[in-house]
Amino acid sequence: MIKAFIFDLDGVLTDTAEYHFRAWKRLADEIGEPFTREDNESLRGISRRGSLLLLLKGRIVPEPEFEQMMARKNAYYLTFIEEITPRDLLPGAKELLLEIRAASLQTGLGSASKNAREVIERLGIANLLDAVSDGYSVERQKPAPDLFLHAAGQLGRAPSECIVVEDAAAGIEAAQAGGFHTVGLGPRERVGAAEVVLASLAGVRLADLAGQFQFL
Ligand code: BG6
Ligand code: MG
Repeated sequence: MIKAFIFDLDGVLTDTAEYHFRAWKRLADEIGEPFTREDNESLRGISRRGSLLLLLKGRIVPEPEFEQMMARKNAYYLTFIEEITPRDLLPGAKELLLEIRAASLQTGLGSASKNAREVIERLGIANLLDAVSDGYSVERQKPAPDLFLHAAGQLGRAPSECIVVEDAAAGIEAAQAGGFHTVGLGPRERVGAAEVVLASLAGVRLADLAGQFQFL
């Protein structure tokens, strides 16, 4: 029986995945690392540190310089998210959150981002989330299951009672490692391992998922 949904943030509820890409791209250009949209796909859902390690493709950088690069990328990212308003919720996201709550199911956030709280405040959905787990909540990031287990713990639910909604391969892997049900958003090449794959949340209602999952 499903009692809760745990949503990833970037690329699921809002398109900050694009802002992360632009911020990394700017840093990459500045430090002379080739970095394409395709390269960026493998960074989806990956922590800031993990992302920079991938971007550097094995180039060794002393820790103080590494930290400075992460800070630079984050500064670029922060200028993008300053502009976020409730209009930046992806189509269907708010409607689904409201419907889940109206059905007496719980909602949680499981985002690797240290900026997640600011983003949900700006989107105006902080009060629609019963639990928030973010980049500060756990040490081991996706694809480890810890972040989703932390969110489920806050909700007082077992993983088998929760559906994780994710746009990243690393996120689906994390959810499955924790024993969660999964809905993947995006192309099958990316999220095909999920139990249910949807293009996006646009027009998605609880009834559409009732065939695959049992609610309450
Ligand atoms: C995830 C994003 O939600 O958060 C990643 O999908 C990002 O792209 C990660 O690197 C960490 O975010 P932040 O805001 O802490 O740098
Ligand atoms: Mg994501």
